[in-house]
Amino acid sequence: MRKPHINIVVIGHYDSGKSTTTGHLLYQLGEVDKYVIERNEEVADEMEKEASLETDRLKGKALDTDRLKGKYASFKYAWVLDKLRQERKRGITIDTSLSKFETRRYVCTVIDAPGHRDYIKNMITGTSQADCAILIIDATFPAFEYGLTVGLTRDHIMLAFTLGVKQMICCINKMDATEPEYSETRFNWIASKLSTFFWKAGYNANELSFVPISGFKGENLTERSSNLKWNSGATLVGAINMIENPKRPLYKPLRLPIHDVYKIGEIGTVLVGRVETGVIKPGMEVTFGPIGLRAEVKSVWLHNKALHEALPGQYVSCNVQNVDVKDLKRGYVASNSKDHPAKGAASFTSHVIIMNHPHHIKEGYTPLLCCHTSCIAVKFQKLLTKIDRSTLEVLEVEPEFLKNGDAGMVQMVPIKPMVVENFSEYPPLGRFIVRDLGRTVAVGVIKSVDKS
Ligand code: GTP
Ligand code: MG
Repeated sequence: MRKPHINIVVIGHYDSGKSTTTGHLLYQLGEVDKYVIERNEEVADEMEKEASLETDRLKGKALDTDRLKGKYASFKYAWVLDKLRQERKRGITIDTSLSKFETRRYVCTVIDAPGHRDYIKNMITGTSQADCAILIIDATFPAFEYGLTVGLTRDHIMLAFTLGVKQMICCINKMDATEPEYSETRFNWIASKLSTFFWKAGYNANELSFVPISGFKGENLTERSSNLKWNSGATLVGAINMIENPKRPLYKPLRLPIHDVYKIGEIGTVLVGRVETGVIKPGMEVTFGPIGLRAEVKSVWLHNKALHEALPGQYVSCNVQNVDVKDLKRGYVASNSKDHPAKGAASFTSHVIIMNHPHHIKEGYTPLLCCHTSCIAVKFQKLLTKIDRSTLEVLEVEPEFLKNGDAGMVQMVPIKPMVVENFSEYPPLGRFIVRDLGRTVAVGVIKSVDKS
C-alpha cells in the first residue's frame, strides 16, 4: 500500500535551530548527499574570509553580519535549506522552502519557515498549509527565556492553533549546549512552562509531544542518543510516525490557493500550492478566483512525479496553459470551472476575537487580514454584535467598539478582490488572523460570504 502524505511546518523563534534540525534530519534520512554538507563547510570558510575583509574595509563600523564571525561553519546543515545569498550572509531564513522525506509510515513534505519578525508573513503562509507543526525551542539560557517573554514563541503557538494545525511536536533543541549539558531538569522545566501556553492557545495534552534533541549534533532525530537516555519518549521521527493521519475533504469542489507562481523554460507557467479540497487533474479547466481567469491544466506534479490527479493535502506544482506568469499571484485560488468556481467576496461576516490590541476597535478599522495564502487589507465595515466568548450569547447589538478579550460578529469588506469561504464549507479558506502594529491582533472564522 502507498504511504499517506502529510505536510509538516517547522516553526519557532529566530535562531532556535529550525533549518539546522531540518537539514540534519534530511541528511540522516538519506535525502541529502554527504558532499552537500562538505561543500557547505567550504562555503563557510569563504564567507568567513569575506566577512573579515568587509570589516577591514569598514573599520570600526558594526555590521549586521558581525555576530556571525567564526560561526559560519555552524550553518552547514541550515544551508541545505537556506539557499539565498542573503540568507547565508545574514544567517537567517527569509522565505519558506520545501523538502521531502519518508518515514516508516508517511511521505512528508516539510516546510522550513522563517523565525525572524520581518518575515512573519512567510511563516504564516507556510503554516496555513500544514497538518502538523514541529516547534523548535532553543533550550539554552537565556535564549528560551527571551523567546517566551519578548520573543515570538507564544505568537507562534497561537498562530499555529488558529491556522488549524492541531497536532504539534515540540522539540527542545540545543540540549548539547544547556548548563549542565543534556540537562534533564532544564528539559522538564521548559516543557512544563510551555505546556501552559499550549493549553491557553487551545491544544490538548494528547495533541502534543516534547522531544529533547540536538539538531546540530543530530541527536534524537532518527536514533536515540545515549546522552539523552533519561528521556523515555520517542525520537523526532518516532513522534512524526505517531501523528494521526488527517482526514481529507475529497468530495468537495476544488480549492487550491496559490502559494507561488514560476515561469519555467520550455514548460511555461507553473503554479505551486496545496490542494485544500476536491481534486485537480490534467485536462481540467480551472478558474482562478477572484479574477475569473480560466485556463487548462496541462500536468500536475508531486515531487517530480506526474500525477493523474492530486488530492487534498498534497502540495503540488501545476503547469497551466495560455496564462502568463504575471497574471497569477500568491493568494489567488484555483477551482474547477464546472463545479462551484471560486469567486471574489464583496463582503463577509466573521466571528472575531480581539486578542492583542492596545486600542478600541471601531467601524472603519482597516488592518491586514491573512487567510489561506492571501494577505489583504480588510475594512471592519459594521460591528454587528458583541458576544460572550464561551456561551456565544449576544451581549450587545451594534456595539460602539470591541476591545481586547472581546468577541463579536463583524461585517468586513476587503479593499481588493479576495477569495474567502464559509468556514463550515471550506475550513482552510474560512479562518484568518488579523495583523496590525507588527503583531497578530485578532483571529476569526467566516460565517457567511456575499460573493460579487
Ligand atoms: P531562522 O530561520 O533565521 O529563524 O533561524 P533557524 O531557527 O533556522 O536557526 P538555524 O538553523 O539557522 O541555526 C541558528 C544557529 O543555532 C546556528 O549557528 C546553528 O549552528 C545553531 N544551532 C542549531 N541547532 C543547534 C544545536 O542543536 N546545538 C547547538 N549548540 N547549536 C545549534
Ligand atoms: Mg532557518
